[in-house]
Parts: sequence; C-alpha cells; structure tokens
Amino acid sequence: MIKWTQHFAVGVDILDRQHRELFRRMNRLAEQLDMDASKAPVADALRFLLVYVEVHVNEEEQFMKLHKYPRLEQHRRAHAGFLRRLEQLIAEPRESYSREEIRSLLADWIANHIRRADMDFGHYLETQALLQA
Ligand SMILES: [Fe+2]
Ligand SMILES: [Fe+2]
Repeated sequence: MIKWTQHFAVGVDILDRQHRELFRRMNRLAEQLDMDASKAPVADALRFLLVYVEVHVNEEEQFMKLHKYPRLEQHRRAHAGFLRRLEQLIAEPRESYSREEIRSLLADWIANHIRRADMDFGHYLETQALLQA
C-alpha cells in the first residue's frame, strides 16, 4: 500500500489530484498481486493503471507546455520510458508476475519521478509566480 501524503504534493491542484488517482490504481495493482500474481488478472490491473498514466502524462505535458517549462523535453522522455516499460510488461509472454519486480517499477516511478521531476516543475512554477509578483 502506497499512501499519498503531502510529501508528494507538487502544488498544482490538477496534477496532485491525478497523482492521487495514480496511487489508487497502483494500490489496486498491489492488491491484485497479493491475491493472485498470475498473468491475466495482473495484466488487467496493469492496463487499468496504464490508461490513467497516459491520460495523466498527456495533461501534465500540456500544462508544462502552457507554462513554458524549460525541461519539458527531458520530462517527456521520462514519461515515454515509463509507458514503454508498462507496455512491455503487459505484452511479455509469462505465467505470472513477481511482486518485487512490479513494486520496484512503481517505487522507481514514485520516488524518482513524482518526487523529483514533477516536483521540479512545481518549484519552477513557484519561481515564475514570485518573478511576476
Ligand atoms: Fe511527470
Ligand atoms: Fe505526474
């Protein structure tokens, strides 16, 4: 269970709301893995997560573009890399999933992405607001 706390708040309402939904879907995936790690149900839970990751990263990138975020290209590449990993995982022929493997993928996304890359955008917006004040 991964709990969303203020720790993960980027400071942009719409993005924080979407990140919370991502956490809900990741937790559903973790629950599924605990119940039954065989291919089909976990692939379904992965797809359920993937759909929302796609929605979220598109909106986040549009929002960044609107605010002329200078590190958008680098950020886009990180999103694309994560989507690719999820897609590959779903497509792999296999009998079952390892909890560790999926946990580390999600932890990597949360620890390295939301808490660093998305947060960097939050800081950028704060600075912009201060400059315009
Ligand atoms: Fe992001
Ligand atoms: Fe994000």
